[in-house]
Amino acid sequence: MKDSEVIHRAAEIIREGGIVAFPTETVYGLGANAFDPLAVARIFEVKRRPLFDPLIIHIARPSDVRKIVLKIPTKAKHLIDRFWPGPLTVVLLKRPEVPDIVTAGLPTVAVRMPDHPLALRLIEEADCPIAAPSANLFGYLSPTTADHVRDQLGDQVDLILDGGPCEVGLESTILSVVEERPVLLRPGGVPLEEIESIIGEVDRALVEEDKPTAPGMLRRHYAPRTPIVLDWCEDNLDFCRGKRIGLLAFQEPKNFLKFDQIEVLSKKGDFREAAASLFSAIRRLDALNLDLILAEAVPEVGLGRAIMDRLRRASHT
Ligand code: TXA
Ligand code: MG
Repeated sequence: MKDSEVIHRAAEIIREGGIVAFPTETVYGLGANAFDPLAVARIFEVKRRPLFDPLIIHIARPSDVRKIVLKIPTKAKHLIDRFWPGPLTVVLLKRPEVPDIVTAGLPTVAVRMPDHPLALRLIEEADCPIAAPSANLFGYLSPTTADHVRDQLGDQVDLILDGGPCEVGLESTILSVVEERPVLLRPGGVPLEEIESIIGEVDRALVEEDKPTAPGMLRRHYAPRTPIVLDWCEDNLDFCRGKRIGLLAFQEPKNFLKFDQIEVLSKKGDFREAAASLFSAIRRLDALNLDLILAEAVPEVGLGRAIMDRLRRASHT
């Protein structure tokens, strides 16, 4: 089938209340008509996602944000002008028409316009905003290829649109712009520094409880089955003796010998490349049934912040 035919079919499924996995520039999403509560409920079921974890609504035109939110504060407007389409999700006060199941009963709603031709065409053809979490089982790593989706959810979704590997590879940055001073809820594809250069200083969300504002904020999330260790040093690997160990290296490692398998995120130490390969690399290591994965820390600037955020949550036990 041609791209246009597949998209046509996918849009039809969305309009009829089905669920479709689709690529975005960040990760693959699992989408349903945002205004169809029953269709949205199926997403929660398939992902085994707790109902307290609200979804992001995806739109194809910046102006469509008005169909979803009550008002757009100036700072939100500046951010939308600068970063949409792109990996920035803004949280704003919701319109009453937005179903409660999408927002987990919160008075706010998360919205973004993805930067991916297939996602945009799907939303446009379906002719409705699409509510979509990442297309993985709750708590596991987000999928960055159609195969990742197929492996986990294959038979439970109505259609998977294949757009190849995701360019960014990490989820969107989530920013609440409800209060005068915006709050970073999840570091992601748009570096915090770039956001602050547009709207000034942003607060960091600190609450990490069982019922956080963004469950991406749960201490343990985005996790593979194999334990990941982040706090370790070359000189003291006694705890690894007799174990099968994988290394998740940022750049080319100096010492190859100690590890059963090595994944290098970016030979030249480039954050973009590292972010784009992060989840695939972890999945490949996870598939080997190793005893442990040692992950190398990356500098916490730019995209490095989001990479470290995911590694910390993946390594939290
Ligand atoms: O890049 C992305 O954001 C991907 C692609 C598919 O767009 N989506 C994604 O969705 O990562 P999900 O559901 O895996 O993560 C969305 C996060 C959740 O942690 C959720 O709690 C938070 O967004 N969220 C949604 N609505 C919210 C709201 N009203 N207030 C605070 N957090 C919200
Ligand atoms: Mg997710």
